[in-house]
Amino acid sequence: MDYDVLYRPVFHFTPAEHWINDPNGLVYYAGEYHLFYQYHPHSSVWGPMHWGHAVSTDLMHWTELPIALAPDKLGDIFSGSAVIDRNNTAGFGANAMIAFFTHHIGDGPHQEQTQSQSIAYSLDKGRTWTKYAGNPVIPPPEGVRDFRDPKVIWYGSEEAGRWVMSLATPSAILFYTSPNLMDWTPSGRFGDGWGHTAGLWETPDLFELSVAGTNETRWVLLVGAGEGAAAPAGGTGEQYFIGHFDGQTFTSENPADSVLWADYGPDAYAGQTWTDAPDGRRIKISWMNNWLYARETPTRAWRGAMTVPRELSLRKTPTGIRLIQQPVAELDALRRNSQGWRAVNVTPDQPFAVDLADGAQWEITVEFDLRGNQAGECGLRLTWSDGSTVSMGYAIGEQRLWLDRSRSGATDFHPAFSATHDAPLVLTGDTLRLRLLLDHSALELFADDGLITMTEQIFSTGELMALELFAVAASVTLTQLTATKLHG
Ligand code: FRU
Repeated sequence: MDYDVLYRPVFHFTPAEHWINDPNGLVYYAGEYHLFYQYHPHSSVWGPMHWGHAVSTDLMHWTELPIALAPDKLGDIFSGSAVIDRNNTAGFGANAMIAFFTHHIGDGPHQEQTQSQSIAYSLDKGRTWTKYAGNPVIPPPEGVRDFRDPKVIWYGSEEAGRWVMSLATPSAILFYTSPNLMDWTPSGRFGDGWGHTAGLWETPDLFELSVAGTNETRWVLLVGAGEGAAAPAGGTGEQYFIGHFDGQTFTSENPADSVLWADYGPDAYAGQTWTDAPDGRRIKISWMNNWLYARETPTRAWRGAMTVPRELSLRKTPTGIRLIQQPVAELDALRRNSQGWRAVNVTPDQPFAVDLADGAQWEITVEFDLRGNQAGECGLRLTWSDGSTVSMGYAIGEQRLWLDRSRSGATDFHPAFSATHDAPLVLTGDTLRLRLLLDHSALELFADDGLITMTEQIFSTGELMALELFAVAASVTLTQLTATKLHG
């Protein structure tokens, strides 16, 4: 892989060439994390979808493998998931890797289309695939045009459990159950007015997590709010619901009009989590893009990247249980030289600057003590040699985190790209904690230990130069700052 290409991130997955979108078929098996993805092998724009394939042993370094699934007479291969069939419930063999995907016929959003659910299996760790001769396993229902993105999980005990599929329709997620991965029975639905209802619902995921500091668990239903959604940063985004799943259907524990967003930046979409990740970890990766402008971003040889894999947990907050996302611990192994500072006063007249030249991959952690400030702002600004800048900060009185990429380099390829994005952030004390990952064109901000994330693409052609910590109408203490170079 040639990493010496303008904009190409290093520890964020990108394909060597051509177009990618959603992560698909995330499953861990025999020491490998499998990442399949929506792939168009003939150009850098979306087209007839295949499943591309990459594997990693550490979630940071990926090896691209040959295409796993290609279109056939039943259609193109849209998004879906994968499981390991340990007990041979489907009869393809013990430990078969089984993929679930949507067969799609139709050319584009305004054409007639048909979508059905199909399966394929691999007996050699995902290297070669056979499509099931009885496809589709779920035929298109009468009158439902958008019917896709099967996510399959095992529910219940090893002996007495069953398979459960979550499937997206425009405004609801449908649930099906099966003993053998081929015969599916409808068992419930959730949506129909709950949460953020604008935009087509897509790419569901369903999983159980423990609530930190308690012995309770909750189920999380993650849903892509697709084209037309007007998510917080515009365009597409990921919403989630917290509640209960009884093996048949999901119920939310929050009111119908409560909307929870997994990310407040524009560039995290179609997130999925790994099945069977070791140590019970729940790890999510998302397509780092937005359908608003995904086809126009200024990369050439390839187009599209994935976020860093993030470990998920649940935290009790004063307003309810919320999803927490942190980069997986494997990221720590990329750390090289680190510089640190402590106890620096930052005022409007006295910003604090750090040299970041010599490297485009950084992890920056910042802790501000805001005590004594009822209003004003503090934050940080990155500058590149071509004059581009990205700023982010916290408006103390308004309890609002913001990130401004309007001068971040190439922004004019789409009118919606150049913008400032906001996130509500109610701190429990006087400390603002920010963690920033920077990897060429990929920027991810984790605030308050992962309670708020903002995922943003930036396309500067300059060299990264400096980091400046600033305060506006406030006087804050930079209690801690570290800038750590990350290796490829
Ligand atoms: C989400 C999505 C899915 C679909 C796939 C097609 O980004 O629209 O619903 O399966 O992309 O590439």
